[in-house]
Amino acid sequence: MISEISYLTSINKKTKRLKNMENIQISEYGTTDKEENVKKYTLTNKNGMTAEIINYGAIVTSLTAPDKNGNYEDVVLGFVEPQDYFNQNSYFYGAIIGRFANRIANAAFQLEGKNYHLTENNAPNHLHGGKEGFFNKVWIAEVLAETEIPTLQLTYESPDGEEGYPGTVIAKVFYSLTDDNELIISYEAVTDRATIINLTHHSYFNLSGRFTESITDHELQLEADQFIPIDTFSIPEGRFQDVEGSPFDFRISKLLGKDIDTENEQLKRANGYDHCFVLTGSGMRRTGTLYHPESGRKMEVFTDQPGIQVYTGNFLDGKHTTKTGGKNMVRTGICLETQHYPDAPNQINFPSVKLFPGEKYQTKTIYKFSVEEK
Ligand code: BGC
Repeated sequence: MISEISYLTSINKKTKRLKNMENIQISEYGTTDKEENVKKYTLTNKNGMTAEIINYGAIVTSLTAPDKNGNYEDVVLGFVEPQDYFNQNSYFYGAIIGRFANRIANAAFQLEGKNYHLTENNAPNHLHGGKEGFFNKVWIAEVLAETEIPTLQLTYESPDGEEGYPGTVIAKVFYSLTDDNELIISYEAVTDRATIINLTHHSYFNLSGRFTESITDHELQLEADQFIPIDTFSIPEGRFQDVEGSPFDFRISKLLGKDIDTENEQLKRANGYDHCFVLTGSGMRRTGTLYHPESGRKMEVFTDQPGIQVYTGNFLDGKHTTKTGGKNMVRTGICLETQHYPDAPNQINFPSVKLFPGEKYQTKTIYKFSVEEK
């Protein structure tokens, strides 16, 4: 006979399952050149906020957030046509980046006494996991039925030797949308041989909801006393530099446009901000805030990672039509990529990014949206 407790548990599970299925709608998205069917998963919370995610590249194709008048608008850059994600997402719009986010110098590293050579897709370096990385792959999607918050699980198995990396890696990304207007991204990975790992998310945010407008009118605040200077190939010079007295000081909220065009060798090298900031503290913590005064939209970033790459869309080139019309011009989106430090496998001063069999890589980042009127 079924006990009262297990009966109640099974009712609870059923209720959660129904709730999760109701809050995540599934629809057809498109077909790739390899005849792979891609689906779109729309997560909706009780306020009407939505996140649209496709199981190609685990890409967030749309994310809405409220302004001071309660209007929900899309705040992430993206393509209009599915084929553009499938064929030419050279901007990494909205994608999960793996196996290693950011650059690896000369597309090479040593691990356990062996030399590895990776795809050189940003000559002479390796960028964002290579030519196809994780962003040009179909992931297996599953709506998790029994989680407290409706969650979409995406899984990708990266074979041994892919893009030059050792070991078969199984990576999982979990997207959840809470009723507190938080997009939670949790990552997990395991391997069958020693390898390196550094996963991140590459949405370009524009809190104005107008994708032709520059993000220089947004304010940014970062919990970072130091940043990592880069050489002319955007590879870390291997040292940390104090932000004090430089355009890299975001300890107090400041307009992105305030110092972006000042005479500064580091800014010139990247045509704007494209640098990793060294986050203070450790564990899950609030690490920064992006704010758009006109709309009142605010986005806080929480993470357990040691760094955040601030990239002000310096290489957006106007080649594509945006979702609200017009072209995707330079500096019309900002990426806040939580991660381990760039080129860590080659930098002795940086924390380890190694993953061994029997270990589990686990990390979490939250983008939380709210409204503030100043
Ligand atoms: C990097 C940039 C790169 C861009 C490509 C960013 O994460 O920091 O250097 O050009 O991705 O979209």
